[in-house]
Amino acid sequence: MRTLERNVVIIGAGPSGLTAARKLKAAGLSVAVLEARDRVGGRTWSDTIDGAFLEIGGQWISPDQEALSELVEELGLETFARYREGESVYIGADHRAVRYTGDMFPVAESTAQEMERLIALLDELTAKTDPAAPWTHPDARALDTISFSAWLREQSSDEEACNNIGLFVAGGMLTKPAHSFSTLQALLMASSAGSFSNLVDENFILDRRVAGGMQQVSERMAADLGDDVVLGAPVRTLRWNAEGPSVTAEADGVTVHAQYAVMAVPPNLYSRVSFDPPLPRRQHQMHQHVSLGLVIKVHAVYSKPFWRDAGLSGTCFGAHELVQEVYDNTNHEDSRGTLVGFVSDEKADAMFELSAEERKQAILESIAGYLGDEALTPEVYYESDWGSEEWTRGAYAASYDLGGLHRYGPDQLAPVGPIYWSCSDLAAEGYQHVDGAVRMGAKTAERIIAQFKG
Ligand code: FDA
Repeated sequence: MRTLERNVVIIGAGPSGLTAARKLKAAGLSVAVLEARDRVGGRTWSDTIDGAFLEIGGQWISPDQEALSELVEELGLETFARYREGESVYIGADHRAVRYTGDMFPVAESTAQEMERLIALLDELTAKTDPAAPWTHPDARALDTISFSAWLREQSSDEEACNNIGLFVAGGMLTKPAHSFSTLQALLMASSAGSFSNLVDENFILDRRVAGGMQQVSERMAADLGDDVVLGAPVRTLRWNAEGPSVTAEADGVTVHAQYAVMAVPPNLYSRVSFDPPLPRRQHQMHQHVSLGLVIKVHAVYSKPFWRDAGLSGTCFGAHELVQEVYDNTNHEDSRGTLVGFVSDEKADAMFELSAEERKQAILESIAGYLGDEALTPEVYYESDWGSEEWTRGAYAASYDLGGLHRYGPDQLAPVGPIYWSCSDLAAEGYQHVDGAVRMGAKTAERIIAQFKG
């Protein structure tokens, strides 16, 4: 058993924990980052599968994500734009594929007007929502105690408009059914991206990728930290004392004595660690009301991007379809063509009831419904299954259950003695995204540095 003495111990080598460690070290403090997995990057992870380079987790950057963009540049990484030339495909309730261009789905005029009206209404509400404190919205309680699904149907009797607007937040972001999270939670998601209009604009949200994969952001930060990052070290126990302050992190094979700790793991995993003394009642309760969504990220690699020859961008939407979103995810300077599709929440549940072969067939048939039969025979097929990952347990990130955000949110970043909380799931700008993880890491580091200065 190795024993280390440090100023700060960081639990989790995802983008948040590594950013915190980098900033703390730059301020002259000593750190140790303990990571459960045998790799860094957490929910960002690239791998070569059957000869195809795939980004299994987080990958896209949007223009407002300045903290991440600055870090990418600082680390000497290049970015490239998502392919988006040509027409997109929409499938509505009639299950008919329709090609279209522009921002609005090719729906009936009345539905288009309803969608515009709902987006404008949500933009207005979002403008009054502080992403750092959504619970301060004047109607926070009312908005947090009605599901997004029910709220949409209170505003509009156009079912297709409600389903399409619901899709952007439910399947598209929180990866939970729209009946299971609140309207305030949807507003937080939108305000963290600048506006509801930004959230529904795939050209904004899914703008660029890091050449060589997003995981490199973490890999490069870890390389700079060297031996201060310990892999294969799941933290089992955190002993803490507000006096001193002091904290001891006991991980497999290594113990770290420090003054402060950063829990840089998603909130659904806090209870994997035994705290001694136990966390206060408030944290015990709060942590049971925040959970990860579920989405299957599907990768299909073809000898060429066949949809481009047909004048298609590869961008497809269908709130009623099994695969609700599809995008061209071809790698930088790759002659092969890659599609990525998403199967969210209850649809993912249904898919996991099937055998792997049946699931693959159903998913590819759904993609072929948008882009034609050539989609049925990829050279490489892979499903990112984050729900099975012991050290994540879902995708993309965490959100509160109905009523939880205004009830617990104000306390979610309160340190407990020497223990601080840092992850994308608790972020304001960049909430649920790598940018939010980076912002949280930097902010948490600042708070701890202030303790040493004070
Ligand atoms: P993260 O989960 O990344 O890191 C936490 C680390 O803590 C992990 O390495 C884990 O192993 C470790 N850990 C947990 N318990 C531990 C313990 N007890 N002891 C030690 N270590 C422990 N974002 C984006 O910006 N653009 C995108 O396109 C996408 N797309 C996307 C797709 C998919 C499929 C997923 C799963 C996620 C995304 N995301 C995304 C989200 C993005 O990946 C996510 O928000 C960040 O990776 C979160 O970073 P954190 O550092 O907060 O947690």
